Amino acid sequence: QTPLWLDCDTGHDDALAILLAGHSPEVRLLGISTVFGNASLKHTTYNTRAILQAIDRTDVPVYEGAQKPLLRDPLHAPAIHGESGLDGTTCLPEPIVPVMKDMSAIDAMYVSLSSEPVGTPWLVATGSLTNVATLFKRHPDLASHLGGLSIMGGAVGGNFTSAPMGRVLGKGLRFGNHTATAEFNIYCDPEAAQSVFGNPVLAVKTVLVPLDLSHQFLATRAVQMGLLFGIGTPAHREPTSAAASPIRRLYFEILTFFAGSYAEVFGMTEGPPVHDPLAVAAAVRPDLFHCNVAGRKGPYEEERFQVSVVTEGEHGSSSDILNGPSQCGRTLIQPLPYGLPGTKVPRGCETQVLW
Ligand code: BDR
Ligand code: CA
Repeated sequence: QTPLWLDCDTGHDDALAILLAGHSPEVRLLGISTVFGNASLKHTTYNTRAILQAIDRTDVPVYEGAQKPLLRDPLHAPAIHGESGLDGTTCLPEPIVPVMKDMSAIDAMYVSLSSEPVGTPWLVATGSLTNVATLFKRHPDLASHLGGLSIMGGAVGGNFTSAPMGRVLGKGLRFGNHTATAEFNIYCDPEAAQSVFGNPVLAVKTVLVPLDLSHQFLATRAVQMGLLFGIGTPAHREPTSAAASPIRRLYFEILTFFAGSYAEVFGMTEGPPVHDPLAVAAAVRPDLFHCNVAGRKGPYEEERFQVSVVTEGEHGSSSDILNGPSQCGRTLIQPLPYGLPGTKVPRGCETQVLW
């Protein structure tokens, strides 16, 4: 089992990451830290505790992390996740377990990860990178101790002429999901992201799961139905959710709401991408993912990149900025010559294995 700490901003797909980390036989979930992002910190922490309650993992300690970025004002994503960050379900239980207050989230992450044998623990981040950046600034020795860091974030299609996200997102040539070029998690705190990707000890242990990969995993209606009644439910069978267990109903409602947001905001009617659980999967099942060296599939270890983040340009949530030319929050990836150490950016995966 891989000892794993999850840092998240619990919205709809983070809830799936918690389910995977909390019940995968390959994972020993050490703890969860929360960060602002999909909603305010108060909401993301509440959602995290409620999801742990729902999946019967109230033994996992929850720590509350950053409520705002290192240098900027916080941004949230109500158009995708609703005001609470986890709108659209009536099945969320009232969480009983309190938030841990014995130490700060940053110290808890450090104590927990550094107590594991060297080279074994993984940190998985599925929200803004504020907590992660602060952790390695305050405890630089942890970088060499970690087994790996897996991050859901970034959009790299536009660094290549084919710009695959343009087609997938259905909005001309845009390849970001927040601005035309920036993915939401990275955009939320670009300085934090740049400090994580710019740390050379960390960079070689980092796996980046960008939109280019996560948009290959769409929770189609068949997948949503599979959550309710089990994989293989015929897609034409409309669910009567009363027959399903509470946890199945909860995740069905979560995916149904998420699907509605993606249909409305991005015109993606085939189903929403399930970004965040992929970062957990990339940490513990690297064999499921592949890179694309010279047009050939290979283990994602084989292809390495130097990743950086644009921190200049206008930043904010006004529609002028979001639809404007600012490149702030864009992830740039530079392929490195074979054998040189750098960050792994898998861009392919055996989807049928994961579902
Ligand atoms: C990321 O942004 C958030 O809305 C999701 O939870 C995911 O982590 C996708 O860009
Ligand atoms: Ca997230």
